[in-house]
Amino acid sequence: MNENRKFLRFSNWEEYKEIVSESDERKKIPPPLFEQPYPKEAKLIDLVPQEEFKIGKKPFLSVVNTRKSRREYKEDPLTLEELSFLLWCTQGLKRQLRSERGVLRTVPSSGAKSPFETYLVINKVEGLKPGLYRYISFEHKLLYIKEIEEAEKTIGELTYNQIFVGKAPVIFFWTAVPYRTEWSYSTLAHKVIAVDLGLICQSLYMACEAIKLGTCAIGGYDQKNLDKLFELNPEEEFVVLVQPVGKYPKEKKITEFFKNPQAEAKTEDLKKLPGTYTRTHQGQTAVVEISIEEEKLYAKIRDYKERLDSYNATEFEGEYFRVVRFILTKDGKPEKIIVLIIASGETVELIYQEPDT
Ligand SMILES: Cc1cc2nc3c(=O)[nH]c(=O)nc-3n(C[C@H](O)[C@H](O)[C@H](O)COP(=O)(O)O)c2cc1C
Repeated sequence: MNENRKFLRFSNWEEYKEIVSESDERKKIPPPLFEQPYPKEAKLIDLVPQEEFKIGKKPFLSVVNTRKSRREYKEDPLTLEELSFLLWCTQGLKRQLRSERGVLRTVPSSGAKSPFETYLVINKVEGLKPGLYRYISFEHKLLYIKEIEEAEKTIGELTYNQIFVGKAPVIFFWTAVPYRTEWSYSTLAHKVIAVDLGLICQSLYMACEAIKLGTCAIGGYDQKNLDKLFELNPEEEFVVLVQPVGKYPKEKKITEFFKNPQAEAKTEDLKKLPGTYTRTHQGQTAVVEISIEEEKLYAKIRDYKERLDSYNATEFEGEYFRVVRFILTKDGKPEKIIVLIIASGETVELIYQEPDT
């Protein structure tokens, strides 16, 4: 653990000078390219230039205050202007440094090295055919790369079954090209690459929020197979973050999900509910243990345990399990629970198991 933490610390000045003096830049090796090459004959697709944007006028404080991770998207396509806006706000190129040792963009980057590329899986954008694209920031244009077969399913699977990711009209994939920063900072590059990545991630959150779109950073993905799908050489470039984007539905208040009116739950009511509830789905069994501790109800799945706050005698609110409804038999015995996981928009039914089964 401590070894891994070291990379987050600034080494002392002596060590910094020693490491950086060994960098390729100090050795007078020419600077790297600040955009991955693409076939010269490729026909690039025009985007809307930033001077022409008519969107994105929402007040900054309102953008800050409404930002959150949004994991449910409507089927509506994005417009080309919306996509152009998001690309400009996250990786828009202002100019190359005169020294040719970096580039200035709409987001900051350590040493102006900007060690990222932007890939897009487009499911629904007005005027664009679905498929894999790359943002060519030097031209503010799009490069079409290839078709992705069954994109929704493929991307859902490659993000460890976070199915909402594949359903988004556009999915951003940031790849890192670490050498751009290593060229200057050698082995000290990796901390600042991580910082740089956070900046583009947050810029996409803010840009989305400014035009009433939603996004969610996705750190859980299948590294090997995503790099393979994008035909990357992982020695040189690899995926570092995923962000689906789409219009989001009007949000419901949590209370709208409860079927019965709010009422105080008595201790005797709660005592009926503990037990083991299971669900078998796609060959995997999920087990949720319901227990009472100090007169409060708790739900435990694998190593994760959370408190469920009572809305009434059979309906509860948690954090991961947002709404939990217990279904009892006529004689008051637990039969099943219905759990709404708002993050994934999924409703899951778990069946009560007798203790000896
Ligand atoms: C680097 C990073 C990786 C994340 N990975 C995931 C993920 O794989 N799945 C997911 O649903 N949310 C993911 N999140 C979103 C966080 O869960 C979310 O930001 C956090 O719960 C705070 O909620 P908020 O963004 O709505 O304020 C990630 C966030 C970050 C910054």
